[in-house]
Amino acid sequence: MTDGQRIPVIIDCDTGVDDALALLFAVRHPALDVRAITCVAGNTDVDGVVRNTLTVLEVAGAGDIPVARGAERPLIEPVRTARHVHGQDGMGDLGLPAPTRVPVDVDAVTLLRREILASPRPVTLIPMAPLTNIALLLRTHPEVTRNIERIVFMGGAVATGNATPVAEFNVWHDPEAAAVLLTAGVPITMYGLDVFKQVLVPAADVQRLRAGTDPSLRLAGELLAHRDPATSGDPTPTGGLGDAGAVCAVVDPGGLTTERLPVEVALAPGPGRGQTIVDRRPLPGESEIHEGTRAQPLVDVALGVDVQRYVKLWLTAVEGA
Ligand code: RIB
Ligand code: CA
Repeated sequence: MTDGQRIPVIIDCDTGVDDALALLFAVRHPALDVRAITCVAGNTDVDGVVRNTLTVLEVAGAGDIPVARGAERPLIEPVRTARHVHGQDGMGDLGLPAPTRVPVDVDAVTLLRREILASPRPVTLIPMAPLTNIALLLRTHPEVTRNIERIVFMGGAVATGNATPVAEFNVWHDPEAAAVLLTAGVPITMYGLDVFKQVLVPAADVQRLRAGTDPSLRLAGELLAHRDPATSGDPTPTGGLGDAGAVCAVVDPGGLTTERLPVEVALAPGPGRGQTIVDRRPLPGESEIHEGTRAQPLVDVALGVDVQRYVKLWLTAVEGA
């Protein structure tokens, strides 16, 4: 694949067990040209995210990809980590050595602007974390949208949430930032929990990776085998690809079934805050009849995913078959 055919991408992450699986895939798939990686507080604190991201790149033997530290808390909310899911260090508490790689000496928003505008072809932005960095970028440097092909973000949910009954963690962590993202004015794909939780690597593949001699494959296996302590009795030794599915959707969008729908983020305080309200009604209802129609962003919402296709895509790239 020539450089002119590779897809220029920038990933914004909160590494994170599943962010790590996504990064392993991104730096190994030949169709992707990872121009930069930016870090934001979410699964763990932002310095832990930077450390974990650099560790993954080091173990993967990735090229010299610039990594920058971003927002250490959401726009309004305090930091509310998901250490109970990802472990105290955010990487499954695997006891990995500290990375020798270091982040660049500019902040995430500066790196995002620099690398988006410098890309010879429009960039696909892949946020898989709270959207704080992306919101700060869009508000500080809106000119970047002229060189953004599409934003494919892991976040939101059409049906059921995880952080709350209706809200997905990345959006719930910084709802205002998610609302800013949705009004970016570029094509957006929402890779939400509805598809996120379906993409599971079979137990036999998880065991093969864990038993391998290659450190990066053993890491992949250990990450896939990591369990949310709250579900530590989980009998299914399969491993969720999580965020990696969003990167698979960039490489192979045909594996995703999407529908272009109005989406808005519920911002009001209360049980619904952080919900991505996806309007799947065939016709307007009484609210539009009596109160008028509100302009809402149209988003390509993922409603279905070819699980086997993405599992095969991910394994082939990560194992280097
Ligand atoms: O809700 C799941 C999302 O929140 C994933 O991106 C996970 O890594 C966390 O960031
Ligand atoms: Ca994440």
